[in-house]
Amino acid sequence: MVNVGHTVLFSADQIKDRVAGLAAEIRRGYPADTTLHLVAVLKGGFVFLADLARVLDCPVTIDFVAVSSYGAATRSTGPVRLRQDLHLPVRDRDVLIVEDIIDTGETLAWILEHLRAGGPRSLRTVAFLDKPSRRTLDIQADYVGFTIPDRFVVGYGLDHDERLRNLPYVAVLEPSDVTPTGETMTNTAPELSDPTS
Ligand code: PRP
Repeated sequence: MVNVGHTVLFSADQIKDRVAGLAAEIRRGYPADTTLHLVAVLKGGFVFLADLARVLDCPVTIDFVAVSSYGAATRSTGPVRLRQDLHLPVRDRDVLIVEDIIDTGETLAWILEHLRAGGPRSLRTVAFLDKPSRRTLDIQADYVGFTIPDRFVVGYGLDHDERLRNLPYVAVLEPSDVTPTGETMTNTAPELSDPTS
């Protein structure tokens, strides 16, 4: 199985504390009567969205956009592809894009342009993780959970070949955790535990 125990980057408790801090920071940045329109970027953003939405002390509405820029490998591979568009109009809403990670910045740049065309009242971004050393575009999120080095991370919504999104913590995926064919060995949740919590 994947030995993720020794490579935990952020424990479930650390994540919980940081998300609460982010929510307070975000809330302070808007007028008191604001309803935030959270637009999560699927698939990776679903876990962060669920946690953030529940600790934000204001009314929220929620929508999703699904894009993809990665293949099965551990590196970004190409242009952004729209897989599922928004269901709700963003016009005159205070939109907060909810991303799990900013890597090259290509996805965020594409989504910002896509949403800006819909005429939102305001448009900001929160990224759970930021990997600035990988940036190919001059772009950054308004709010960032954790800044991380150039390592391939999994868990808390982030996958390797569609697995490991369900880890309640963030771990670094080491090359030894992947088979020669590029598959992760397993992500059977009951066998994985967070030794730091
Ligand atoms: C990941 C992540 C971001 C994007 C960041 O999505 O969720 O949306 O890549 O990379 P970038 O800054 O280099 O554009 P991915 O395409 O892996 O899809 P997923 O969320 O469905 O796993």
